[in-house]
Amino acid sequence: MIKFSGTPVLETDRLLLRPLKQSETQSIFDNWLSDERVADNRVNAAHTSVAQTEERLKKIVSQYEDQEFCYWGIELKETGELIGEIDLYDFDCSTDNCEVSYSLGFKWWNHGYGTEALQAVVEFGFRQMNIHKVSAAHNTDNPASGRIMAKVGMKQEGVIRHMIRNAKNQYKDCSVYGILREDYLI
Ligand SMILES: CC(C)(COP(=O)(O)OP(=O)(O)OC[C@H]1O[C@@H](n2cnc3c(N)ncnc32)[C@H](O)[C@@H]1OP(=O)(O)O)[C@@H](O)C(=O)NCCC(=O)NCCS
Repeated sequence: MIKFSGTPVLETDRLLLRPLKQSETQSIFDNWLSDERVADNRVNAAHTSVAQTEERLKKIVSQYEDQEFCYWGIELKETGELIGEIDLYDFDCSTDNCEVSYSLGFKWWNHGYGTEALQAVVEFGFRQMNIHKVSAAHNTDNPASGRIMAKVGMKQEGVIRHMIRNAKNQYKDCSVYGILREDYLI
């Protein structure tokens, strides 16, 4: 059975993973949600107004009271900057499986932060939450995301053609990855 404990603070060498705050609306908008380079790799369109980000954040912040809600902001310890987000979602209580997704602001790409955050969340999911399997999918034209999955030990399980249609009405093939608790905790 999954042991839910909300969104506790997780610390890595360089990062603090912790709940997002409503007061961070502008940083979230500026740093990743308004950026097409980030949005092109996600399902939803880039935000064109801060009001959209404010609304989205309201929904997130209101769910932190729910123990089954796991949604972290990624803060760079050295500077205190909020550089991205990562969440566990789609918990299936019949299998104890879930999904993970993440995004970082463009200026922080390729510094190893994505791998560090994903590693911490996978570790938390298996060791603290008793998750059975963590899965994720990335567009095949976004290989960096597949690379961080591979770096934390996730295995590629196949490619699903036209798995999503993005906000620009483009179908995307997605590469599906997963990692089992029994493989992680050996
Ligand atoms: C995916 C994402 C989180 C990766 O975070 P990151 O901090 O840049 O990742 P890391 O620095 O830990 O690792 C990136 C790896 O991808 C590799 N990489 C980067 N661009 C690449 C490319 N075009 N082709 C192949 N590999 C690439 C890097 O070399 C690095 O691998 P290495 O350590 O073996 O050299 C970040 O790019 C992002 O937020 N993208 C936009 C949103 C997104 O894609 N979300 C995921 C949706 S599935």
